[in-house]
Amino acid sequence: MSVHPQPAPDASAARPAWTLPRLREASARGEKLAMLTCYDATFARVLDEAGVDILLVGDSLGNVIQGEASTLPVTLEQMAYHTRAVAQGKRSAFLVTDLPFGTYEASPEQAFASAATLMRAGAQMVKLEGGGYTADTVRFLTERGIPVCAHLGLTPQRVHAIGGYRVQGRDDAAAKVLLDDATALAQAGAAFLVLELVPSAVARRISTELPQLMTIGIGAGAGTTGQVLVLHDLLGLTGGTGGKRPRFVRDFTRAPGSAADAPGLSIAQSVAAYVAAVKDGSFPDEAVHGY
Ligand code: KIV
Repeated sequence: MSVHPQPAPDASAARPAWTLPRLREASARGEKLAMLTCYDATFARVLDEAGVDILLVGDSLGNVIQGEASTLPVTLEQMAYHTRAVAQGKRSAFLVTDLPFGTYEASPEQAFASAATLMRAGAQMVKLEGGGYTADTVRFLTERGIPVCAHLGLTPQRVHAIGGYRVQGRDDAAAKVLLDDATALAQAGAAFLVLELVPSAVARRISTELPQLMTIGIGAGAGTTGQVLVLHDLLGLTGGTGGKRPRFVRDFTRAPGSAADAPGLSIAQSVAAYVAAVKDGSFPDEAVHGY
């Protein structure tokens, strides 16, 4: 018997395109959502066919595509370029794009102009990093028809203010700030909330207390609505954002239990294995990947 999962049949051919209302319905049914970063048309097709629900054109492209040490140098024009490429390749997946550093923080009006550029390029939602102080911007965008994904916990655009890529919200006071920020962002109309590098218990509490938010975890345990990984981390190609491989990353090119010298899975098989593991709740494994 082969230990390799078969390549996913083209899941996107069988499923209708994801829309925000359909994602809300799926999440209300208890379905786990699989998000993955994506930066070009070919990977968009492969990831969509493997069953990924949501493609994120992350500003992590600064790290994994451009080789930069942080996401700070990434520009709006570069994000629009990669968004257009991903939009051309995908079929059913929902497309979210990061607002890069310096393109949304000054005012809601600045954020709207930047978000409009990304929506014209094919984004269906924009993501922005930051706490409750971004709530006015989130409200401004959502009232004007731009769906928003917020992002709390480790926010890589603030790496120099935080002092490194480390777990956030570890003590009671910091956890309360996260919960208060998430509440403010939910009330402002954010549909999704990425929770990056936060203790599993904190992410679970936010997800339970704010069911109107679809929470997407990365290093946030198993209690969120969905999961996201950086594609290159999932494919075992990087040491993770910031240089060393964090514990929440799993290399999905290695089938569980396979011998160290066994051939790795194909890209399509690896991505299908990620989607299956998110959907059946086996990834993340709290004991291995949680904080
Ligand atoms: O830029 C990115 O890829 C992200 C994910 C890590 C959530 O923001």
